[in-house]
Amino acid sequence: MAHRIAFHSARAGTGKSTIVANLATILVVSGYRVGILDANLQSALMHQYFSLDVNHPFPTLNQYLLGECQAQQMVYDVTPRTTPTLPGQVLLLPASTDAQALEQVLRNGYNTDRITDTLVSLIDQLQFDFFLIDTHAGWQERTLLTMLSMAIVDTLLIVMRLDQNDYQGTGVLLDLARELEVPNIALVLNQVAMHVSHEQVQERIEQTYQCPVMALLEYSDHPTLVTQNHLFVLKHPRHPLTQSLKQLAMLLVQTSPMSKEAGASEPSSL
Ligand SMILES: Nc1ncnc2c1ncn2[C@@H]1O[C@H](COP(=O)(O)OP(=O)(O)OP(=O)(O)O)[C@@H](O)[C@H]1O
Ligand SMILES: [Mg+2]
Repeated sequence: MAHRIAFHSARAGTGKSTIVANLATILVVSGYRVGILDANLQSALMHQYFSLDVNHPFPTLNQYLLGECQAQQMVYDVTPRTTPTLPGQVLLLPASTDAQALEQVLRNGYNTDRITDTLVSLIDQLQFDFFLIDTHAGWQERTLLTMLSMAIVDTLLIVMRLDQNDYQGTGVLLDLARELEVPNIALVLNQVAMHVSHEQVQERIEQTYQCPVMALLEYSDHPTLVTQNHLFVLKHPRHPLTQSLKQLAMLLVQTSPMSKEAGASEPSSL
C-alpha cells in the first residue's frame, strides 16, 4: 500500500519541487517504487529534474484533465540512469508547460470526483510504495487540486521558510488541512541558516503551530542546487542537505502504511 504524501506551501519558492525530486531519488536508491504527480499546473517543473520532454503530443495531466487521454497514458518511467542501475523505480505523471494547455484546463474546469477515484485506483494498480504530489503554492483559492491532493493523502508536508511572510499563510494552510482531516500533517523547514540553533527553531515553530516539524533542511549556496535539470543528491551524496533529506526519507518510510509489512528498508547509502 502506497504512502501518499502531498507537498504544499503558503508561498512560492519554498523548495517543494527540489525536495520532491531529490526525496524520490533517495527512495529509489533504497529500492522503492515511487510515483510523482506534478500538480503544479501553473509552473510545471518536475519533468526537468528527470530530463523528460513533455511537449505535445506527449500526454500530461493537462490532457488527462481535459479528457483527452486515459490516466495510464500520462505515466512515464523517469528512473535516473546510473551505473550501477538503481534498484527502485520512479514514474512521473507530469503537467504540461504549454500555456494553451493550461488555459484550456482553467477555462474548462474538471471533475474532481472522477480524478480522485482514478488517481486512487491508478496508485493501487501501479503498486507504488510512495506517491508524492508536488503542488503549487497558496491557499486563497482553495483550488481543486489543493483540495484533491489533501483528500487522497496520508501525509501532508507543508514546506516553509523562516520568513515572516510565510507565517500567516502557513497557519491558514494548516487550518484547511485540519478541516479536511488529513491524517498526518507536519512542517518541513527549508533553507534554514546553518548558524541558528536548529533545536530552538524547531521548538518555537512547533509551539507556534502546534504541529510537528518533520525536517529541518539547511540553506545551501551550492551553485548546482539552483538548476532544475539536476538531482542534487546523486551528485553530492555527502552534502549536509543530502543527509538531512535522507533523514526525512527515513521518517517517511517509518510512518508509511507498508512499514508494518515485512521488508520495508531504511534509505541506504547513495
Ligand atoms: N535548501 C535549499 N538551499 C538553497 N536553495 C534552495 C534550497 N531548497 C530549494 N532551493 C532553491 O529555491 C528555489 C525554489 O525551489 P523550488 O522550485 O523547489 O520551490 P517550489 O516551492 O517548488 O516553488 P514553486 O512554488 O514556484 O513551485 C530553487 O532555485 C531551488 O534551487
Ligand atoms: Mg515547484
